[in-house]
Amino acid sequence: MRGKLIVLDGPDGGGKTTQIQLLREALEREGWKVLTVREPGGTRVGERVRAILLDPALGEMGRRTELFLYMACRAQLVEERLAPAMDRGEVVLCDRFLSSSVVYQGIAGGLGMEEVIRVGEFCVGGVRPDLTVILDVDVETGTARRGARKADRVEAQAREYQEEVRLGFLALARSQPDRVRVVDARADAAQVQAAIWGLVKKIL
Ligand code: TYD
Repeated sequence: MRGKLIVLDGPDGGGKTTQIQLLREALEREGWKVLTVREPGGTRVGERVRAILLDPALGEMGRRTELFLYMACRAQLVEERLAPAMDRGEVVLCDRFLSSSVVYQGIAGGLGMEEVIRVGEFCVGGVRPDLTVILDVDVETGTARRGARKADRVEAQAREYQEEVRLGFLALARSQPDRVRVVDARADAAQVQAAIWGLVKKIL
C-alpha cells in the first residue's frame, strides 16, 4: 500500500478530536490528500454497531461480545474505506484503532494483550499503522475535560478501569517503541500539535 496510516489514541479526554483536525490541516498544507475516520464507526454498518456499544441503557456487556463488536466495526472500516484510501496513496488519520481494543478490552478488560492483538490481526488483514500517537492524560484531567457532557456507557465505568486504561496505553507504547509514541496531552493544544507534527514528519 502506498499511503500512510496514522492513529491517534489514548484515554478519554486527551483531545484527539482537536488534534486530528489540526493534523489534517497541517498535512493538507503539505499537499497530502487526507481521509479522517473514527472508531467505532465511520461506515453505515459501523455507526449502527457504535450505537449499541455506547448505549448507557444496555448496561453490562460481556467483554468478549464487546471486543467482537469493536472488531466488526473495524473490519468494515478497513475494507470499505481505509484500505482503498491507502491504495490510492492517501494519508488516513484514524481516531482510535486496534490499539484501543488492545488496551480497553485486552489490558484493562482482562482479555489479554496478546490475545486481542491476534484477533485484531485477523480482523485488519495486513493493515498496520505507520505511527500510533498516544495522547496521554491523567484520569482527573480527562474527566474534567469531558465537563458536563453525560458519560457514555464506556466512560461510566469504574475509576479503576479508567486508571488501567491510562497505564495500558503507556504499557503498549513501551512494548512497541518504534511505532507507538506518547505525547503529554495536558499541555496546551498548540504544544501538543507541535509534538505530534514532529513525530509525523519522520514517517512521511
Ligand atoms: P470514542 O468515540 O473515541 O469516545 P470519545 O468521543 O469519548 O473519545 O470511543 C468511544 C469509547 O469506546 C471510548 O471510551 C473507548 C472505547 N473503545 C473501546 O473500548 N475499544 C475499542 O476498540 C474502541 C475503538 C473504543
